[in-house]
Amino acid sequence: DNLDGMTAFITGGASGIGFALAKECASRGMTVLLADIEAAELETARAKLEAQGARAFAYRLDVSDKDQYREVAAAVLAEHGAPYMLFNNAGVGGGGSAALGKIGDWEWTVQVNILGVAYGLSLFVPAMIESGQRGYVVNTASLAGLITAPFGMAIYTMTKHAVVSLTESLAHELREHDMHAAVICPGRVSTRIYADDRNRPGAHRDGDFTPRDPALRDVSKAMLADGLPPEELAARTFVALEERRTYVITHSEYRESVAARHRQIEAAMRGEPDTDADIIALGQAERR
Ligand code: NAI
Repeated sequence: DNLDGMTAFITGGASGIGFALAKECASRGMTVLLADIEAAELETARAKLEAQGARAFAYRLDVSDKDQYREVAAAVLAEHGAPYMLFNNAGVGGGGSAALGKIGDWEWTVQVNILGVAYGLSLFVPAMIESGQRGYVVNTASLAGLITAPFGMAIYTMTKHAVVSLTESLAHELREHDMHAAVICPGRVSTRIYADDRNRPGAHRDGDFTPRDPALRDVSKAMLADGLPPEELAARTFVALEERRTYVITHSEYRESVAARHRQIEAAMRGEPDTDADIIALGQAERR
């Protein structure tokens, strides 16, 4: 595709993977519409893109606030028309286990990671179809959307499975409009997601949620530090889009966990007992 002059709308565009996607879009001559909850970072990101000669616009947006999202989408459609590429990328690690998760853990993670994507779809995709541009919808899930990760990652993992599943349905539905949907499922990427609770809303902050363990945060910060650079992920995403792949998978880590989960499902379909009750948990298979 010649992307020059086309428009991309990117949530969570102020930092990490979203900003790397924005730079990749800008390098291809696209007009970039950044949306993010963090106003100062958003403006810094927009200015950086502009300094590199890009056409970049910023929209302050909490993707979990449907009224705000309605206003932002209306402004985007009025000012720029339907985007050619929609990146539903904003997400939080959330936290909270399946057994011991608090109401606030469920609410925040589901509202940002699932409903934030849902609002983006319902506010933009009809206009994208209507425009006849044959564009792209790209959702950021995670390898966590393909495996199981209990304890502090249980709720996050559930939301990413949801994003994988809805992208598969979307890809099917969009095919008749000659549009493409893809889901990015990265492993560790070097971003600031370990500090995601900077954006936890006040209503949940003083409410019922699992507080972040500072020691665990340091562990995830260190783990992410040697993750894939987000720019590399963005470049590989565009290669995958050119090939019209549905899954953008950039890491081979957890391959055995994915395979083990599928083996277990297939065993159940044959009426056989669990192949290995523990193997499906994140990284368990790899550690053996
Ligand atoms: P990040 O924390 O660097 O960037 C996330 C961006 O989203 C930030 O700019 C943040 O301000 C924004 N954001 C947070 N809540 C928001 C809300 N309610 N509304 C609008 N914007 C909001 O993290 P990263 O890693 O770039 O995360 C992007 C996506 O990548 C997320 O969906 C995450 O789950 C996913 N991901 C990240 C991986 C990693 O290792 N970093 C691995 C797999 C998936």
